Amino acid sequence: MIDRPTRRAVLAGAACGLASHGIAAPGQPFGPAGRPSWSGDGLQAAAARTGLTFGTEVPGFRFARDPAYRQAVAREAGLLVCGTEMKMEVVLAEPGRTDFSQGDALVRFARGNGQRLRGHTLVWHEALPPWVPPLLARATPAQAEDFLRRWIETVAGRYRGQIASWDVVNEVLAQDGTRPDGLRESPWLAALGPGYVDLAFRILHQTDPMAAPCWNEDAVEQGVPWMEARRTRVLKRLEGMLARGVPIRRFGLQSHLTSTLPIDQGQLRRFLAEIGGMGLGIEITEFDIDDRAFPADIAVRDRMVADFARRYLDVAVAEPALLNVVSWDIYDPDTWLNDHPYRKRPDGLAQRALPLDAQFRRKPLWHTMKAVFSEAPDHAARRAKLRG
Ligand code: XIL
Repeated sequence: MIDRPTRRAVLAGAACGLASHGIAAPGQPFGPAGRPSWSGDGLQAAAARTGLTFGTEVPGFRFARDPAYRQAVAREAGLLVCGTEMKMEVVLAEPGRTDFSQGDALVRFARGNGQRLRGHTLVWHEALPPWVPPLLARATPAQAEDFLRRWIETVAGRYRGQIASWDVVNEVLAQDGTRPDGLRESPWLAALGPGYVDLAFRILHQTDPMAAPCWNEDAVEQGVPWMEARRTRVLKRLEGMLARGVPIRRFGLQSHLTSTLPIDQGQLRRFLAEIGGMGLGIEITEFDIDDRAFPADIAVRDRMVADFARRYLDVAVAEPALLNVVSWDIYDPDTWLNDHPYRKRPDGLAQRALPLDAQFRRKPLWHTMKAVFSEAPDHAARRAKLRG
């Protein structure tokens, strides 16, 4: 008896805070669109030749305090994405209050520089503020749906018209596929049932019809049987979503590649072609290379990272449905891999996962990416069509 009013009150309070926040009109308050900022010799200029966009994740703390960093992302990238600043843990850190300050700053910057934006990420089992999982656990399905709707309307509504594609769901597949539907156990699944994935896509599409709704998934890139099994599950689910009329337009491969596993170019090529064949766009959304299997020596390691990247990117850029190549930051010192318990190098050295080094110098990985983009087949017409 005590539980019911409490639950209702908490949900109403959270929803109230969400609903009371003003939704910005398109173009406001982010300023006028500026001229493209990227340099003629950078990664974006090379990618654009074939209709691709090169982008990078930007961590808010670095963006806010380092002008050299801001110059680098303006010079190299045609697309930006917030690492954490549009996640629920930042936007809704406390119930009933929204914080868009850091997300707004990046949107304003990208807009001023003529850069596209991705949105990351609406529904994920991680990055939930601590007050949300217990709230979802207590909610009825109708209350949980209301909360999901208000959350998506709040964040995607604020950036309506500014975001080229939104990661509607992130990492929804279980590692091993123990459930017949392949979904991972999560607070969203528990509260809403397996229909939460389709539902989130429909809500985003209603909220911002200009943003391409994207399913972003990890561990679908490399040549090992368990990833091949995940690729099969992705294709099956995509077919189902399209058959059900779910408004999905893109599939994102996170592409946190690891040097400990092989790349099977044939398997990768077939997977991308299957997705492209369904009429969907494809994005590489979080590209980086965990170099832990490579030796400590920097020159050797950088070469091996670059060669490894080439095996992956050569196949990807040949697929006409590939639209964006987004690296998960561009600047080695900030890679998340160094903070991750299973991804940091066992020898304690910093990962050399990204295109620019600690002095913002272009590394062998940068030169390889530039070469891959420069040599890629020209699919500009197909890509323009898929962007819509
Ligand atoms: C990471 C950020 O880079 C970190 O700063 C944060 O502490 C944790 O999340 N897959 C994703 C991203 O989809 O959101 C993650 O980003 C990296 C793995």
